[in-house]
Amino acid sequence: MAKTQYYTATSIDGFIADKSNSLDWLFEVDEGTANPFGEFFAGVGAFAMGATTYEWVLKNDNLLEEPENWHDMYGDVPCWVFTHRDLPPVPDANVFMISGDVRRVHEAMVVAAQGKNVWLAGGGNLVSQFVDHGLLDEIILGIAPAILGDGAPLLRRKLLVDDLILTGVREVGQFAYLTYAVGDVARLGRHLAAEAVTRIPSLG
Ligand SMILES: NC(=O)c1ccc[n+]([C@@H]2O[C@H](COP(=O)([O-])OP(=O)(O)OC[C@H]3O[C@@H](n4cnc5c(N)ncnc54)[C@H](OP(=O)(O)O)[C@@H]3O)[C@@H](O)[C@H]2O)c1
Repeated sequence: MAKTQYYTATSIDGFIADKSNSLDWLFEVDEGTANPFGEFFAGVGAFAMGATTYEWVLKNDNLLEEPENWHDMYGDVPCWVFTHRDLPPVPDANVFMISGDVRRVHEAMVVAAQGKNVWLAGGGNLVSQFVDHGLLDEIILGIAPAILGDGAPLLRRKLLVDDLILTGVREVGQFAYLTYAVGDVARLGRHLAAEAVTRIPSLG
């Protein structure tokens, strides 16, 4: 079944950018030879990002002068950018500027994704709104060996043990990848696991 996923890199202490919205600390890290993003993105049929993240991508990848960089990264996969402002679109990219309630947009994204996954690219401000409405199924974290002490948080709300279940652990270069099922998916997994345990006959 298709999922709505938050795939992001983070510092050990849960920041996705430093105080000045820089990711320089991240690009210094050895990512090994098997960065899993390509495989992940092959399963994505629609994605979304907040305005601050979009502005960072625009600048970092020089997209207004070199729009082909967007196509090289994301092809024609449709992207929704949440903003209250008139941000410049990447020429010829499949990008929709949108504002307001994430539930309405999520419905449109699921339809557009045609059975593939929906990726929430970040940041924590935007993704927290999806979490608030129970619309996030999975978090995939690439944890970099960096402690920032401050910055843009992974999420701006709590998710505690009842909301999360660890489903994957992987080492790639200097990154530790952790995958968690979230919310109802996590609760269902926990319930099924508990049920299976009670069915195991006692050895005593
Ligand atoms: N480590 C990583 O892999 C990674 C991944 C993603 C992002 N990042 C970084 O994280 C930082 C940004 O994170 P963030 O959480 O501060 O910001 P964000 O979620 O990217 O963007 C927040 C902004 O989006 C707009 N917005 C959010 N929800 C909206 C809604 N429902 N309707 C309309 N507009 C809405 C608002 O901007 P306006 O009102 O001004 O339009 C809001 O201030 C950036 O530095 C980015 O580069 C890092």
